[in-house]
Amino acid sequence: MDMNRRGFLLGGAACGVGLAGSGFAQATTRPLPIIPITDLTGGIENRVALSLAPATHDFGTGAASNTFGINQSYLGPVLRVKQGQTLPFDVTNGIGDVTTLHWHGLHIPGDVDGGPHQEIENGQTWSPDVPIVQHASMNWFHSHTHGKTAQQTYKGLAGIMLIEDDASLSADLPKTYGVDDFTLVLQDKSFDTTGKMSYALTGETFMDGFMGDTLIVNGAIAPVGRSVPSGLVRLRILNACNARFLTLSLASGPITVIASDGGFLGAAAQSDSIFMSPGERYEVLIDMRNAETDSLMVGFGEGEGDGFLGGLLGGLFGEGAATTTALTLTRDPATTGFTGSMPQALANLAAPDTSAATRIRSFELNMDGGEDLAVLAANWGNVCGNAGGMGINGQPMNMDRIDERVQVGDTEIWRITVDEQRHPFHIHGCSFRILSQEGTAPPAYAQGWKDMVHVQDGWSEVLVRFDYAAPDHAPYMYHCHILEHEDCGMMGQFTVT
Ligand code: C2O
Ligand code: CU
Ligand code: CU
Repeated sequence: MDMNRRGFLLGGAACGVGLAGSGFAQATTRPLPIIPITDLTGGIENRVALSLAPATHDFGTGAASNTFGINQSYLGPVLRVKQGQTLPFDVTNGIGDVTTLHWHGLHIPGDVDGGPHQEIENGQTWSPDVPIVQHASMNWFHSHTHGKTAQQTYKGLAGIMLIEDDASLSADLPKTYGVDDFTLVLQDKSFDTTGKMSYALTGETFMDGFMGDTLIVNGAIAPVGRSVPSGLVRLRILNACNARFLTLSLASGPITVIASDGGFLGAAAQSDSIFMSPGERYEVLIDMRNAETDSLMVGFGEGEGDGFLGGLLGGLFGEGAATTTALTLTRDPATTGFTGSMPQALANLAAPDTSAATRIRSFELNMDGGEDLAVLAANWGNVCGNAGGMGINGQPMNMDRIDERVQVGDTEIWRITVDEQRHPFHIHGCSFRILSQEGTAPPAYAQGWKDMVHVQDGWSEVLVRFDYAAPDHAPYMYHCHILEHEDCGMMGQFTVT
């Protein structure tokens, strides 16, 4: 069976019902929640405390959902830090279960990476000193607990880390947080009939990854709205869905992308839409110098608008069925914001130089590891993370097995393919450049620094250099970022020595 096609059809249909007909997805526009910021760019005096704990949170249904929060009731703070700093974290686990906290996108050694080997028992505090060596970029942190990443992240163990550097702090770009510079965490959720957030682990959840029917922005049900000053507005966007690819577009026309996962693009890239996998980050600029209003739209289906099926469904259900308004900006003509114009050149970014590569490694993501996924889901509590339902190169993730060994400082080409479905592939401890994605050149907005690449038909190839150590006791991970696939075994481990 063509799983990808089936997933797409289900997703499109569920989406039409959920977004248009659900009692929880009212047409009312809620205020955009501004995630509290911890701004450390001016200096760090104390250790930075992150407290992971159970909480309740109202997403807008009127009911108190059971969540996890980091220093708050759902998700974590936005940490704003500067290149050159070392961040002295105290991560305290109070969730009642073992957890970990991984710094996704950071160029840091394996022993502070927060992957499955750096477990924090309930009641314990993990105190890594995390050096920030890379340039300006939007990164994030989330649970990476072996076998429990999907459920813990879904409940709220995720947050944002914005890295600034001298260039980004002096760049001609909007940068007043919460005024013309916003962080958006996009997620899909399901709610039960009482309005509480729900999550059911079934064979189908493992197969397709979790698919919610309601779009959430910064912990609030979309659409959300915000009044902004006249000027350019910057949105720093994370797809924090467990499994959903999202298609982002603007009501007014093409969208201007200025940065991807690992930092600024060489030049601003205009695109009709951005096709964004779980784990990916993009920064965009919206021109609110003259427009009275503009909206960020999010398409829920997989790759809609692309190709035959997307066009067909668009025609059958109409544009609105699979696409919902995430955020509406309204210009306040009485306030003047960032008055500069759209930037052209952003960063020095040479074309990727494949001649530096000394080795090619190949990975095949395997959906069928031979286990019955429905049985696996039913017995998940006893599996302890050692699932064999999926794998990479024929082997499910094993905490005690190192799959690849890389030499520190080496440049390599990693090529990834799949047996079925589309998967977002992620590598720890680095940023890479995409040479090809699903057999073709990536769109302009994905040609800068990345740590995520889409994989479906054909090969996806990335050029990557590993500069930091990850020894046997603290290896890096590479994995599918559909969190249920990761938990189900679609992950491997590598050392850098
Ligand atoms: Cu965002 Cu290995 O994770
Ligand atoms: Cu990561
Ligand atoms: Cu996958």
